[in-house]
Amino acid sequence: MTSLLLAGISSLVTNDPQRGGLIGEVPDAAVVIEGSTFAWVGSRAEAPAADDALDLGGRAVVPGFVDSHSHLVFAGDRAEEFAARMTGQPYSAGGIRTTVAATRKATDEQLAANIARLVAEMRRQGTTTVEIKSGYGLTTADEARSLALAREFTDETTYLGAHVVPPEYADDPAGYVDLVTGPMLDASAPHARWVDVFVERGAFDADQARAILLAGQAKGLGLRVHANQLGTGPGVQLACELGAAAADHCTHLTDADVDALASSGVVAGLLPAVEFSTRSPYPDARRLIDAGVTVALASDCNPGSCYSSSIPLCIALAVREMRMSPAEALWSATAGGAASLRRNDIGRITPGARADLAVLDAPSYLHLAYRPGVPLVAQSFVGGRPG
Ligand code: NIG
Ligand code: FE
Repeated sequence: MTSLLLAGISSLVTNDPQRGGLIGEVPDAAVVIEGSTFAWVGSRAEAPAADDALDLGGRAVVPGFVDSHSHLVFAGDRAEEFAARMTGQPYSAGGIRTTVAATRKATDEQLAANIARLVAEMRRQGTTTVEIKSGYGLTTADEARSLALAREFTDETTYLGAHVVPPEYADDPAGYVDLVTGPMLDASAPHARWVDVFVERGAFDADQARAILLAGQAKGLGLRVHANQLGTGPGVQLACELGAAAADHCTHLTDADVDALASSGVVAGLLPAVEFSTRSPYPDARRLIDAGVTVALASDCNPGSCYSSSIPLCIALAVREMRMSPAEALWSATAGGAASLRRNDIGRITPGARADLAVLDAPSYLHLAYRPGVPLVAQSFVGGRPG
């Protein structure tokens, strides 16, 4: 196995608690990659020899971003809906049906090309792991093919047959829940690691969501929930009751919701590019962190509520608008995302972890929030390979 020494790192973020501080920053650092994993991490002065060496010329290195929430299997866009929203229309769950109609009409090749384009766009911005949901097919065949296509790009695939009730079931939501927990689940589960439900007024209520999540769990899927996005509601409490890995959005929380997240260990996924793109109030990250909740930052890239794939944008918004420190925001977009996906092999730069990283055209990670909108990711590595 060949080894590669990356030296000339002005500042290395490891997320290794043993190195002190939240993010274990090492100045003037080096790392050695062997095959697909990190073999050695430390000060440049102490770096061992390796087969090959690359001098990064005083750039910062951070763990590759772990985007724990995205919806990349779709066709078309909703730019007109965005424009209407910016001139006063509120965002509502109903817009999802526009994308469902376009996605059903698309070929596999068209859907795969769109996923490939967005995954490449993410990679250029430092994302090295992405979770991808279905949810714009909403027939048995369209959900199963959405997940099979997503699986070509990531192991972190999520069955979201319960995104909204599609128009053909408008008069029979119970019948749609039967489909989602029955034949659609059977066809989708082989391609999925997770099951998710949009718990919201206009989507699914607590009882429907509980039935869907438990049916998915019985098929071996882990649990994720779209919770408390557009208003307070039962999503967070349900996620905590069932021991879900993640309750995502968490924009409108009661004190009881915050307490439940803190005591259950469910990771709160905050998706600030959604609030940016829907001109909505941001979630209160400070309240969650101060209560001891584990927070992940993710993009929620989708054609409706947020057509941005940029984790650097999320970090900048979290710092500027949500009172997260730059270190907290970076941790949440890396180690926090890994916690949300229940992964311990990613989200950190420590020996034995998968060699995923982002090289920044900047002297430190602080520039991610300090220089919003600037493309700072010079290069990323996934599993030890430049990509
Ligand atoms: O996470 N909340 C539900 N789903 C997406 C929005 C999807 C859409 O509007 O197409 C979200 O924001
Ligand atoms: Fe979402």
